[in-house]
Amino acid sequence: MALKTRIKKLLPNFFLAHLGIHDGIGKFSFDKNLDIKRDIQTKYGFNGDLLEIFTNNKNKVVHKWHHYIPIYDRYFSHFRMKKIRFLEIGVSKGGSLQLWRNYFGEDAIIYGIDIDPNCAQFNGIAGQVRIGSQDDPKFLESVIHEMGGVDVILDDGSHQMDHILKTFKFLFPKLNDGGIYMVEDLHTAYWRNFGGGYQSKFNFFSFVSELINDMHHWYHFGGVKHPAISSFCPAIHIHDSIAVFEKEAVHEPTHSKIS
Ligand SMILES: C[S@@+](CC[C@H](N)C(=O)[O-])C[C@H]1O[C@@H](n2cnc3c(N)ncnc32)[C@H](O)[C@@H]1O
Repeated sequence: MALKTRIKKLLPNFFLAHLGIHDGIGKFSFDKNLDIKRDIQTKYGFNGDLLEIFTNNKNKVVHKWHHYIPIYDRYFSHFRMKKIRFLEIGVSKGGSLQLWRNYFGEDAIIYGIDIDPNCAQFNGIAGQVRIGSQDDPKFLESVIHEMGGVDVILDDGSHQMDHILKTFKFLFPKLNDGGIYMVEDLHTAYWRNFGGGYQSKFNFFSFVSELINDMHHWYHFGGVKHPAISSFCPAIHIHDSIAVFEKEAVHEPTHSKIS
């Protein structure tokens, strides 16, 4: 019996969670014989264009969780068919850039970055591809400069906690007003091999909870921990494995009684 299976049999779930032992994503694979489109339609009541674009994707592989499709559309739809600037971290097989081109339209300025030099083969097809690491601020700076700013960022890169946090802290302040920053595959926040863990201070959601405290700083005496972010982040949305941050100036709240 494999060591992991033996440990899982011996230890209660509480210890497994704290040790960051997990089953990976294999058990969530969708049966190849079933209808992907119908699954998304019936579970999430979603019928938007992105459903067609995703399920009709050809030639270049794109790998997405089914529940992400309506979530993308919920936050990205008002950027469609405009000259917006979109950056995806993590190009892999090139399929997601193709999907974003079909979704956002011809006017969108689409860039993808990846640490893998093989991804350079996708440069200039659905978007521009630049090779470098998401934890290299100089590289990120040069890409944003070349893009002429950025409205939407999707982090689907290494999924390592330190990378996600470093990238977010560097790029969120660079996002245009009205922009969206989305981080996906945050189930990794619970996994040791991605630098996370259940109730770990390195779990990205621990950082998110600090931002939530910052958002409510008016009502407590704990101060503001991340002013460069929280002064410009009026809304945070959490879905299964996805965090979405809205970029806009935050104003001190005020109230009125009207009669
Ligand atoms: C999950 S895949 C991206 C999948 C793609 N977005 C899609 O939906 O089909 C993750 C990618 O992140 C890249 N990656 C890993 N570490 C990175 C880093 N430090 N900086 C940039 N990209 C990285 C990997 O080479 C890989 O291609």
